Amino acid sequence: MPYAEVNDTRLHIRQAGTGPVALFIHGFPLDSTMWIEQIADLAAVRRCIAPDLRGFGRSAPVTGAPLTMEQHADDLAAILDVVSAEQADIVGLSMGGYIAMAFADMYPDRVRSFALIDTRSGADSEEARAGRDAIAVRLVDEGRAAIAASMDGGLLGPNASLAVRGRVRSMVEGCHYETIIGALGGMRDRADRTAILRGVTVPAAVIVGELDAVTPPDEAAAMADALPDATLTVIPGAGHLSPIEEPEGVNQALRALFERA
Ligand code: MLT
Repeated sequence: MPYAEVNDTRLHIRQAGTGPVALFIHGFPLDSTMWIEQIADLAAVRRCIAPDLRGFGRSAPVTGAPLTMEQHADDLAAILDVVSAEQADIVGLSMGGYIAMAFADMYPDRVRSFALIDTRSGADSEEARAGRDAIAVRLVDEGRAAIAASMDGGLLGPNASLAVRGRVRSMVEGCHYETIIGALGGMRDRADRTAILRGVTVPAAVIVGELDAVTPPDEAAAMADALPDATLTVIPGAGHLSPIEEPEGVNQALRALFERA
């Protein structure tokens, strides 16, 4: 099942393993290949499903209209229907974390366990909202390479290898312009979901790169405090993309979570 037709679109789905379903939700402007080390390891204990979100990766193109967190959450619920899974371990990185929180808000009974990686629960400030619009203009004027260059510096920690940097560039420079514009609009307008965390009572894990400059460890600690049954793991040396930068540490934390679920 490399593709699923859901909610009037066609989504590409990467999957491996058997057993309970774990759903991996990628960040911006990335795609499901960001999870290849997690899938390779965790397929031993889970049926790992990593979609390319609407408009991303090998999924069908979109128009540039805002891609809301709620729309992505609806798509994920539809994917769970396609694979006949009532529940899943929900794992989201950064924008994928925003989507995971929307999913937990909208479909609480479908969450078996909950992992938030390098993300935040709050909404964008006015300044951040204006920044999203400025990035969209810069993207169209200067191209994806300019965005990739700024992400390379801002997203990854200083220890990131050339291969990791190249991998991130492949994802960013492979993302449709319309998707990037749509995702920026969706993130700009997303709701503050801090208040829902107290109601997510399933086993949870908050994972953050020690050097994450985008969603720093103090924000991760606040989310771990708010979630009733969460562990907090800080990944030494990693920046904002800890699953790519330091996969072993992230895999270990996810395995421990899955054992508790
Ligand atoms: C991501 O990694 O998904 C983005 O940095 C999230 C964001 O821009 O808020």
